Amino acid sequence: MDRSAVLNRAAWDRQATLLLPADRPSRPGRLEWTQYPGHGPGIDLLGDVSGRTVVEVGCGSADNLAALAAAGGHCTGIDLSPAQLERAAVRWGQQTMSLLCGDARTLLAEQPTAFDICVSIFGAIGHCPPEQLLPVITDALRPGGLLAFSVAHPRWLDAGHSHLLLADGTRVPVTRWTATPTGWIAAAQAAGLHVRTAIEIETPDGSGPCCLIVLAERPGSTTLASAPSSTAGRPAVVSPVPAAGRTGCPNRRTLPRARQPWPGPSRYPYDVTRRQPTTPRTPLSQIVRPEGPTW
Ligand SMILES: C[S@@+](CC[C@H](N)C(=O)[O-])C[C@H]1O[C@@H](n2cnc3c(N)ncnc32)[C@H](O)[C@@H]1O
Repeated sequence: MDRSAVLNRAAWDRQATLLLPADRPSRPGRLEWTQYPGHGPGIDLLGDVSGRTVVEVGCGSADNLAALAAAGGHCTGIDLSPAQLERAAVRWGQQTMSLLCGDARTLLAEQPTAFDICVSIFGAIGHCPPEQLLPVITDALRPGGLLAFSVAHPRWLDAGHSHLLLADGTRVPVTRWTATPTGWIAAAQAAGLHVRTAIEIETPDGSGPCCLIVLAERPGSTTLASAPSSTAGRPAVVSPVPAAGRTGCPNRRTLPRARQPWPGPSRYPYDVTRRQPTTPRTPLSQIVRPEGPTW
């Protein structure tokens, strides 16, 4: 395991030993893309998932995967943390989902063209090197398959987010990568994906963007119906959008090589745990953040 996997697995294993926040659903609920439950788009962003093969990378306790399974998706959840997946199995055992423990970069590499849809919701995308994970996701999608991911908006993240604040008040180190919308678009394109759109979601109180959702597809013959697409073959940046198993942990060491060199330091995600951002941001002190134990 590399540094990101070691740190993140330890952090989310520890989080899983603590009480779940009270707002977590006991039955499959709404698909939540943002930090604010009930806010922003829902499952409709993916089109009709019924009968589709869906994988979530970094599924955690699988609340969102449960929503996808309840909507008829054939769901697989991947996570580094055995404790998170144990919690997922306890919470959603009756749902139809497979839970795989390990690094998404290696587990997905073993499943070329296996999935219609790949989802990451504050998940593996943003927590490990994107130049390693995104090309593997491209290959794991069937031609025409859809990648949809949400990450914190770059104005939310600085070096302080190299730690995860847990429910007991302790802070544990994690690794995070972030970028501007154009940076994430460039990263997805470098991985061979066609970016349909990148949507900045504003906080419920309208104080500015809180997260970014990117929709991209693997080029190919069949396009999944009804998810939003850009109009002129160029990705659209919409800014901002108004409010609206089985477990077991293989010890895998070989990481895939990046398909292409990264587009350049000013255009691709940076590791917030190591570098200072190069783009202007709103200072975190000006942002009302729901930071808590859940992300
Ligand atoms: C913030 S949690 C998100 C959980 C879930 N997506 C949700 O919305 O509730 C991030 C999860 O990503 C997992 N993760 C981070 N890097 C990963 C990787 N390279 N492969 C698989 N899982 C990873 C962590 O273990 C953690 O459970």
